[in-house]
Amino acid sequence: MSNKVSRRQFMSYTLMGVGGFMASGMLMPMVRFAIDPVLKKSDGGDFIHTAQKVDELTEVPVRVDFTIENRKDAWYESDVSDTAWVYKKGDDVIALSPVCKHLGCTVNWGADKAHPEQFFCPCHGGRYTKDGNNVKGTPPIGPLDQFEVKVQDGFVYIGKVTANTLV
Ligand code: FES
Repeated sequence: MSNKVSRRQFMSYTLMGVGGFMASGMLMPMVRFAIDPVLKKSDGGDFIHTAQKVDELTEVPVRVDFTIENRKDAWYESDVSDTAWVYKKGDDVIALSPVCKHLGCTVNWGADKAHPEQFFCPCHGGRYTKDGNNVKGTPPIGPLDQFEVKVQDGFVYIGKVTANTLV
């Protein structure tokens, strides 16, 4: 039996090698993209700086806008604007999500003249107490979510969304 490699075999080995190399070059980023979020440690360090100074906060909730940079959503990354209702409760800083727990509209503080000390959802008249508890008899079926909060250099930093711990 001859160990000679024919020209045809040589070409097909070479093409397979080049093809395999190119395929691995394309596959690796796809594999990394798929498993990266799984492997990424959630160290709780992802707090976002806001322009809200802590010493300007009172017990009346104020709207604080912030931007989540490079948020991965399925196959693309983009900057996403978000909002929190932020106020002081004793020495603590509270940040509540504005997303209504009925159908996801945005709630506002004090927007219902009949209930100025509550959050109000204009879509279907949902109401929440200042702690975010949904007022019984209005459409929302649960309390507003809460953001983790950090104070650094006098500014409010917003972290990830959690279930409401106040009610
Ligand atoms: S979406 Fe808020 S009350 Fe319906």
